[in-house]
Amino acid sequence: ETKPRIPVIWMDFQSCSGPTESFTRSYQPTVEKVLFDMISLEYNGALMAGSGTAAEKHVEEIVEKYPGQFILAAEGSLPTMPGALAIAGQPRYYEKWREIASKAMAVVAVGSCATWGGIPAANPNPTGAKSVIDFVPPGVPWIRIPGCPPIGEVITNTLAHIAILGKLPEVDELGRPKEFFRHRLHDKCQRRPFFDAGLYVESFDSEGAREGFCLYKMGCRGPTTYNACAELRWNGGLSWPIQSGHPCIGCAAPNFWDEGPFYAR
Ligand code: SF4
Ligand code: F3S
Repeated sequence: ETKPRIPVIWMDFQSCSGPTESFTRSYQPTVEKVLFDMISLEYNGALMAGSGTAAEKHVEEIVEKYPGQFILAAEGSLPTMPGALAIAGQPRYYEKWREIASKAMAVVAVGSCATWGGIPAANPNPTGAKSVIDFVPPGVPWIRIPGCPPIGEVITNTLAHIAILGKLPEVDELGRPKEFFRHRLHDKCQRRPFFDAGLYVESFDSEGAREGFCLYKMGCRGPTTYNACAELRWNGGLSWPIQSGHPCIGCAAPNFWDEGPFYAR
C-alpha cells in the first residue's frame, strides 16, 4: 500500500490499438486497480489526453527522472523502411526506442505486432515492420505478450507482477510468461471430446456446428497455438472464439498472418 506506483511508458507504433482496448477490459485485476494502485501510466497514445510536443517531452522527463525504474511497454511493430513512416516526427524511431529501452527496468511487448511484427509485417512487409524486441539493447530484460490482441488479464497480471515483485515473471523459450502460455488451446478446449471422437464441423451453420463439434476441419489452429483463451476466456470469462463457434486462427502464434488461409486445412 505504501509502495510508489511504478512509471509505465506505453508506446504505440504500427498497431490497431487492440492491446490498449483489451487492457481496459481486464476484470481481474480491473484496469482501475492497476492504474490507481500499481502503475503510473505516464504515456499511452490512445488513453492520454495530452498529445504532440508536450506528450513527447513528458517521455523525456520520465526517462530522465526514473532511469532503470520504469517499464517500457509497446504495442505495434516498428517500421524500418526508409521513408515508410515517421513517429513523433522522427523517421527512424527505432533508434529513439532503443535509446529509451536502454534506460528501462524492463520492456514489455504487448500484442502480436510488437511481439513478432504482426499484420504490418505480413508479406511483402511494405514498411519493413519489426518486433520492438529486435531493438532492445542486450542486458535489458524483456517479455513478449502475444495475441491479436492479448487477453486483458494476461496484460494486467504481467504488469502487476513486475510492479509488485520488481522482476519479470518466469518465461518460456520464446520469452512469453509461462503462466499464460504453457498450454496449447487444444489441451484445454471444451470441444476436445469431439475431436477425440472424430466428430467435426464440416461447414458453418451445419448440424455439427450447432452441436458444438470440433472445428479442426474448419482450419482451427488450436492444436499448435499456445495461449490462455480456453482457461481465462475473454470479457471477464464470458466466452472465447472457439466457444462462440469460430476456429482459432492462431493469433498468438509467431507468423500466424502468413501461414496460409484461416479457414482451410
Ligand atoms: Fe482442438 Fe480446435 Fe477442435 Fe478445440 S476446436 S478440440 S482446439 S481442433
Ligand atoms: Fe487468438 Fe486463437 Fe485465442 S485466435 S484469441 S489464440 S482462440
